[in-house]
Amino acid sequence: MGACWSSRVKAVSPSSTGFTSRSVSRNSYDIHSSSINSSSSMPLTPRSEGEILQSSNLKRYSFNELKMATKNFSPDSVLGEGGFGSVYKGWIDEHTLAVTKPGTGMVVAVKRLNQEGFQGHKEWLAEINYLGQLQHPNLVKLIGYCLEDQDRLLVYEYMPKGSVENHLFRRGSHFQQLTWTLRLKISLGAARGLAFLHGSETKVIYRDFKTSNILLDTNHNAKLSDFGLARDGPTGDKSHVSTRIMGTQGYAAPEYLATGHLTAKSDVYSFGVVLLEMLSGRRAIDKNRPSGEQCLVEWAKPYLANKRRVFRVMDSRLEGQYSLNQAQRAASLAFQCLSVEPKYRPKMDEVVRVLEQLQELNDQVKNGDHKNRRVSGSGLSHPNGLPASASKGSAYSPKKFAYPRPSASLLYA
Ligand SMILES: Nc1ncnc2c1ncn2[C@@H]1O[C@H](COP(=O)(O)OP(=O)(O)OP(=O)(O)O)[C@@H](O)[C@H]1O
Ligand SMILES: [Mg+2]
Repeated sequence: MGACWSSRVKAVSPSSTGFTSRSVSRNSYDIHSSSINSSSSMPLTPRSEGEILQSSNLKRYSFNELKMATKNFSPDSVLGEGGFGSVYKGWIDEHTLAVTKPGTGMVVAVKRLNQEGFQGHKEWLAEINYLGQLQHPNLVKLIGYCLEDQDRLLVYEYMPKGSVENHLFRRGSHFQQLTWTLRLKISLGAARGLAFLHGSETKVIYRDFKTSNILLDTNHNAKLSDFGLARDGPTGDKSHVSTRIMGTQGYAAPEYLATGHLTAKSDVYSFGVVLLEMLSGRRAIDKNRPSGEQCLVEWAKPYLANKRRVFRVMDSRLEGQYSLNQAQRAASLAFQCLSVEPKYRPKMDEVVRVLEQLQELNDQVKNGDHKNRRVSGSGLSHPNGLPASASKGSAYSPKKFAYPRPSASLLYA
């Protein structure tokens, strides 16, 4: 069974809500100025809500302040909607971080959680627990929060180019098409973010890796957002942590869906799905496609494994931008990340190395190295914007349904 149809799977283990300890020396991603805040240099097992909030070094805002910063949460300030609430544009002072008159100072993103249910609160707190401590160029910065009666809000650095999901899948002039070079840059940035989380001193499992959680700054630097589902990785001689099966359909690893056992390799699988979305321009699950093509991983895997058929997977919008060698290497990386057996998936720092090599190769291609000639036109018998079957008059119709946005949720029947 592929990992797409999670609704057949039952959760097996109850969630543990405590946060476990971790050591705090700096890790190999320090070269990218990553850090674990000094606040974490004390034992953290487990941390109460008060401890998390106190030690986070984040600014605490009142509800009224954030109401003012976002023009009363006006619809024209909305940056996006997620499963847990709306995200608004707001304004604060760059130096003091105090709220300013809308339109003046520094733009921030203010996420306001829907007020239904306890789950939102847990995820809100997890976000503060992790992003309050971890800093890395490929993680979005959390600036502050609001906790007042039923209201839970988070204030983040503003990411002007929005989510990768919007660029990859939304059509229209508002969203710039992602070139091959940009897709490589974004994949590498996101991989570095995950590798930092998995590093021996951090040991965090992200659990909700998907294109809507990768945000882009002005220069298309990728940063991971949304740590609501993140968990501390296993400690001591434990091989996994047991969790309720949470995540987004189409991205979760098959063994996690089957057992609830979470490891860093579950994130590697999700990375493979996102890499495949980047290569193909197709969504992890797309109910608008013919039945054999709705689950991207199931449809693409046979092509990824075959060097000569890799082109059937590649996004036709990328034609002429990459070499045969690059496409094969990227496809092979995705294939390994998507191994059914977690032990055959690479670690994220290996993924980073391969993507760095691919980027070097890409620079050579751009500089006209003939051995790495770009592929153009024709070899692509299966243009990806539309499946081949579309041109044969199949039932495929991109406008048939409004696309339901995939959102993180409990993944069991
Ligand atoms: N820091 C930010 N800067 C700019 N835009 C943002 C920022 N954070 C979120 N957004 C926008 O708001 C949208 C909603 O984000 P949110 O994280 O709430 O939900 P999601 O990731 O789309 O879905 P899910 O609920 O499954 O996490 C994003 O897709 C993005 O377009
Ligand atoms: Mg999100």
